[in-house]
Amino acid sequence: MAAAENASKVRLKVGDKSLELATTRATAGADGIVISPLMSRTGLVALDPGYLNTAACTSEITFIDGDAGVLRYRGYPIEQLAERSTFLEVALLLIRGDLPSRAELEGFEARIDKHMYLSDDFRQIFSVMPRRAHPMATLGAAINMMAGFYPESLDPLDPSAVRLATALMLAKMPTIISYIYRRAQGNALLYPQQGQSYIQNFARMTFQLPGERFDVPDVFYRALDTLLILHADHEQNCSTSSVRMIGSARTNLFMSVAGGVAALSGPLHGGANESVLEMLSHIRDNGISPKEFMAKVKNKSAGARLMGFGHRVYKSYDPRAAIVKKLADAVLEALGVRDELLDIAHEVEQVALSDDYFAERRLYPNVDFYTGIIYRAMGFPGSMFTPLFALGRLPGWIAQWREMINDPAGRIGRPRQVYVGLGERDYVPLGERGDD
Ligand code: ACO
Repeated sequence: MAAAENASKVRLKVGDKSLELATTRATAGADGIVISPLMSRTGLVALDPGYLNTAACTSEITFIDGDAGVLRYRGYPIEQLAERSTFLEVALLLIRGDLPSRAELEGFEARIDKHMYLSDDFRQIFSVMPRRAHPMATLGAAINMMAGFYPESLDPLDPSAVRLATALMLAKMPTIISYIYRRAQGNALLYPQQGQSYIQNFARMTFQLPGERFDVPDVFYRALDTLLILHADHEQNCSTSSVRMIGSARTNLFMSVAGGVAALSGPLHGGANESVLEMLSHIRDNGISPKEFMAKVKNKSAGARLMGFGHRVYKSYDPRAAIVKKLADAVLEALGVRDELLDIAHEVEQVALSDDYFAERRLYPNVDFYTGIIYRAMGFPGSMFTPLFALGRLPGWIAQWREMINDPAGRIGRPRQVYVGLGERDYVPLGERGDD
């Protein structure tokens, strides 16, 4: 079988059959070969485990150049957004396609502010989860419950219902995450206060202790906002593809996003930020040198991976990791926190970047490598790192879900398979199957 490109068509030869396939031009990055007619014309399917080479959709939202270390939301470089924008502005940008005017942004912020409150009935659900439940389990459950609490916002084909679901999700997510934390701590759940910013409300509802003022320097809020911006979208990653796949069945926004939360919880995806801290603590607590740890990683039989390193798309330094690394140094200094784990992280990174194993495989730090160190300095325990990632990724999930719902080429997601199991055989009754 051989494929040769001809202008905007690709000719594919399968035995003595020849098939002309259209291509879809990208505005940046790889063009796509439209392989949809492959099966009907040749009887073959495309096999691509892990989707290493398969585009499931066209998208206008986020662009990544993994070789050059470029990330852009709606055309804007991540470095500019991280420095100059705010999380809610980036959310609007991702969801609506353009930067808002001042009046639009203020109107949106006011709408979010109004919806941050959770009813007493909703608050009950946090008390039925065991205190030791992983926050991601409770988060997924709470987001699924939103579909029960807000039935007027469920119809994916009604634009005003989708706008309402979008506002409800963005507004209630920080409240939900702060309640998950407080419940685990055994502390009373606080209410959002109008007039405080999104980030201020979230931080205060999470950390304020009874009878005490919650007072942190501005750098705390700014760093948290920046981390959320950095996580806000990353095109067709595992959780986003899950959200799109679930939504392709016309599932409502809440339950689609709950599926994204489940995918994000895995240690190879959003769970990696928690695993990085566990790994760094393990190195410290066992007095292992970064070089010894690296030998274990390279000897794959030991089953150790360098968490926070490597990426399916980035084959150079993840641009988000570069921003987080600088931020980590600045935030720890401003908060007056000294963390041995930051020193270990710097050492591990240096050893890895000068090692042939990592160079040959083009493995560099990803966004998770330094993120946990900042969250830890702010007072979040490791189990809260992935919920924070989910809060950041929420605008991306929503934007991608909305793009999928409105895509005229959209169909229910239903991959094919190449069956490699047994051929047909007859059922054997229990008594005739032998002893074992
Ligand atoms: N440590 C050691 N070796 C690694 C690592 C790592 N972190 N990542 C990849 N490799 C090696 C693999 O063993 C493989 O080696 P081989 O060619 O000798 O078999 C090679 O590099 C290619 O790795 P794959 O696993 O095939 O790459 P893939 O694209 O499937 O996986 C992933 C990407 C899951 C991110 C991987 O690099 C990894 O497990 N990293 C650690 C977990 C992590 O940090 N995840 C967060 C990702 S970013 C995010 O979700 C926000």
